[in-house]
Amino acid sequence: MHDSILIVDDEKNMRFVVARALSGEGYNISEASSGKEALDIIEGSTPSLVIMDLRMPGMDGLETLEAVKQIDRDLPVIMMTAHGNVQSAVEAMKAGATEYLTKPFDVEELKLAVSKALQVGRLTRRVEYLQEELGRDYDTAGIVGSDPAMQAVLDTVSRVAPSDATVMVYGESGTGKELIARAVHHNSNRKDNAFIQLSCAALPETLLESELFGYEKGAFTGAAGSKPGRFELANGGSLFLDEIGDIAPAVQVKLLRVLEQKSFERLGGTKTLNVDVRLIGATNRDLSAMAKSGEFREDLFYRLNVIPINLPPLRERRGDISQLASHFLERYAPDKRLAPRALELMEEYAWPGNVRELQNAIERAAVLCRSREIRPEDLPEEITRKRPLSATAFTLPHEGIALERVEQELISQALQRTGGNRTRAAELLGITRHTLLYRMEKYEIEVPSS
Ligand SMILES: Nc1ncnc2c1ncn2[C@@H]1O[C@H](COP(=O)(O)OP(=O)(O)OP(=O)(O)O)[C@@H](O)[C@H]1O
Ligand SMILES: [Mg+2]
Repeated sequence: MHDSILIVDDEKNMRFVVARALSGEGYNISEASSGKEALDIIEGSTPSLVIMDLRMPGMDGLETLEAVKQIDRDLPVIMMTAHGNVQSAVEAMKAGATEYLTKPFDVEELKLAVSKALQVGRLTRRVEYLQEELGRDYDTAGIVGSDPAMQAVLDTVSRVAPSDATVMVYGESGTGKELIARAVHHNSNRKDNAFIQLSCAALPETLLESELFGYEKGAFTGAAGSKPGRFELANGGSLFLDEIGDIAPAVQVKLLRVLEQKSFERLGGTKTLNVDVRLIGATNRDLSAMAKSGEFREDLFYRLNVIPINLPPLRERRGDISQLASHFLERYAPDKRLAPRALELMEEYAWPGNVRELQNAIERAAVLCRSREIRPEDLPEEITRKRPLSATAFTLPHEGIALERVEQELISQALQRTGGNRTRAAELLGITRHTLLYRMEKYEIEVPSS
């Protein structure tokens, strides 16, 4: 598609000169002789670029420019101004012009301004698009969770996001801690400023310190230049410290100071820097227990733990499994569906790696599966593998038990779970439907009324 350019000037001659200079560049060129006419054209179909004279009778260039920006704030506009009138050029730029050209200009100058302005237009649209995409991902709407525990989490996120309160996200690996941290930022007033992230695990003490606070030249051997730290980069925005439970004691002291005073110095620096940063922490460790046992500074823990958010492991919100599976299927293989048996296996599995493990399983199946239906054999082996009986559920009571009682109990539970569906209950128990019916009769087990 060729870029379209609208030339706006009351002087026919000028329009002709500009149009001719740009002919042969492959643009679709249209012309308007007044601001009013230009606006009508733009309302109809937005061009890629407008080149407009500042001085026109009736609605002048500046007024028209303002009206254009009302229609499409991102439409690039080049203003043509009279030679020597610096003031009007400045005004045009202030009103949102992308570029200005002072008359007379030569063809090369015009072409350069046009290609620059078109480029700005493209980039602006691209950035807007990406921001929208980002917003969609981190909007709480993009987070799957209808389980009451997740609903409570999302509710907390939307309530605390607008404040500047420090948030601590707790949860096992892969439960969505980073997703929640980003959602907090993207639902806050800081969303147009930086979201800076640092994983504190596996960083040696001095490296962690220099990453957080930055350093000046010569602060340590190897510091050839100076570098800003994450706190500086996050100024006005949010700083996400992942694996915050792994921070060494010496760095904990410094972190506490920043949180209390909102100021710090770079390593080897003397100037005190003031920052406005919202801190979001995450850890898969039990920070409260670590604070009690002295592994983590208690005062820092209380500073951090202002708004704790606990993400339940996936096995404790099984209701979300099928929704998450559809969510990832939509992403990785929108044309495929999950066989009912495959979903059942997923719903029964323990998911030690939580949502990330589920995401990987679907992504993998999407790649491996040739048909339109993802079957159990397309899933990772640990999901389909027959699992050993859980030790706690089957401990023989001290006083002993009648085996038949156990059998009756399990049959009842299976029927309960399947809502009375005998075929599926038999599957759960690893017996045939016929055997199940026989035993139900023998033990006089009724189908539960749902
Ligand atoms: N509720 C959810 N809805 C949709 N996607 C989710 C959800 N929870 C997690 N995910 C996705 O699962 C993956 C893992 O989530 P994330 O990285 O946030 O977990 P984490 O708790 O930070 O893990 P780790 O402790 O290993 O760093 C990401 O791709 C994330 O987008
Ligand atoms: Mg993470």
